[in-house]
Amino acid sequence: MTQPLPQLDTNGRLRHLITLDGLDSGLMRELLKRAQDYQCPPGQLPPRGDNLRNWTVASLFAEPSTRTRASFELAARRLGADVLNLDVMLSSRIKGESIIDTIYTLEAMQVDVFVIRDAQPGTVELVARHVGDQVSVISGGEAHISHPTQGLLDALTIQQHKGDFRGLTVTIVGDIRHSRVARSAHCALTALGVAELRLVAPMEMMPELHEFQAARRFSSFDEGIAGADVVMMLRIQKERIAEALPTDIDRYHELYGLTPARLARAKPQAIVMHPGPMNRGVEITSEVADGPQSVMRRQVANGVAIRMAVLAHIAEARRGRAP
Ligand code: CP
Repeated sequence: MTQPLPQLDTNGRLRHLITLDGLDSGLMRELLKRAQDYQCPPGQLPPRGDNLRNWTVASLFAEPSTRTRASFELAARRLGADVLNLDVMLSSRIKGESIIDTIYTLEAMQVDVFVIRDAQPGTVELVARHVGDQVSVISGGEAHISHPTQGLLDALTIQQHKGDFRGLTVTIVGDIRHSRVARSAHCALTALGVAELRLVAPMEMMPELHEFQAARRFSSFDEGIAGADVVMMLRIQKERIAEALPTDIDRYHELYGLTPARLARAKPQAIVMHPGPMNRGVEITSEVADGPQSVMRRQVANGVAIRMAVLAHIAEARRGRAP
């Protein structure tokens, strides 16, 4: 059996970032702290650095993305890297080239970091097993399994609004079964010590019982949101659902949509999160999405900061390993 790929180097620093599963909470906290240094207050110039000077960061996204891809590009550029965005659907993979041959091709052009998004589980780790000693691989989202930088940016957003994780009740709502965002949030928030994690979904969108074992499960949104500090809404992941989709979207919205009335059941200072892209009128109303409790734009801003923190950490770790 293939052993899991170690993400850390011998100094306990990140060599790759493929999953938050099993990642030490101390390392997560270090990345959150570092991301605080890369915050960009409105109206001010974004922080920059030269941590990635002479580096090349290549993004290979085989699934659509706005936030992740754009924020990795900005993060890499703000740290001084050259950036290559390969549109996989227009690349020679369409002519039959394997992902590994694509990686070998780009490695020959001296790419230092690959950011990979793929619908096929295992692709990110496969790439990490094939790159050279001095090359790192970061997941930009792997199938329904993992989205580690999203998990970190969500944790950072919660920390900024709520301080300590202990004592918090976090409710995740929607298509959890097909959500890599929910899985990485679960890894991050349980490691960081959230008091209670709740899942709210119709039966067909609940994950299998062997997953999210510490979470409480609710079919009633009104019960699952009661007294929550954080409400994280998810869209229906149509692209990952083989079986029939809910055909009655109005009924889905009635049962699982976040409205102002439903939000009033959470704590008065509760925050509303959504990883995006959102479907207004399905899982969330515009009143809530654009309302005072929504922190969705802060999540987006934190995406750049977290990705800068991860890239800077990986660069620093590599310098620490240099002969
Ligand atoms: N949250 C997220 O992964 O968004 P994108 O698909 O736009 O990157």
